[in-house]
Amino acid sequence: MTTIGILISGRGSNMLAILDAIEEGQIPARVGCVISNVPDAAGLAAAQARGIDAIALDHRGLTREAHDRRMHAELVERDVDLVCLAGYMRLLSPFFIRSYPNRILNIHPSLLPAFPGLAAQRQALDYGVKVTGCTVHVVDEELDHGPIVLQRTVDVLDDDTEASLSARILVEEHAAYPEAVRLFASGLVRVDGRSVVRVDASAAG
Ligand code: GRF
Repeated sequence: MTTIGILISGRGSNMLAILDAIEEGQIPARVGCVISNVPDAAGLAAAQARGIDAIALDHRGLTREAHDRRMHAELVERDVDLVCLAGYMRLLSPFFIRSYPNRILNIHPSLLPAFPGLAAQRQALDYGVKVTGCTVHVVDEELDHGPIVLQRTVDVLDDDTEASLSARILVEEHAAYPEAVRLFASGLVRVDGRSVVRVDASAAG
């Protein structure tokens, strides 16, 4: 069975959506641990309250790779084989990304490749797009760039604020992320170049 490690920096609502889906039996996986680089992140306490091994690893004072090596050691100790970034607000080192080839997922609140980076909802409003949404993608060594697992759209309304748009996108994130994790944990998809494609079950074995 797949063992998931979830990396967070904040409130952890996407983490909770994944935990809920696992508890409801929708994802054939267990969560080995949740790691936060922000020791007082609300998501860390929420994970602990759910009985999950919740680990605070403060990144301050360490190089990116030194911090990532500590996270990696915790994940390896728990046999984690799928890493989910859920509001993890730091870039990962090449060392970490190469340790989990095509096995790190991230969620981003826009329809990539539009609006990568910070404040994607603000970027969408400022650009004036009529449709935005969220993207779950495989993490590669470029920011918000790897192969796309799935996307969900959200209409932008004339009177949207950053807060109102973010709230509607978040609803879609909470549906998209568990579904993407299910596809990976169940072995239903594989990465083929820039594309994530369905595994042809009839050709397997
Ligand atoms: C989400 O909007 C996610 O798309 C972005 O960071 C936010 C994290 O929210 N990467 P939460 O911590 O999962 O509530």
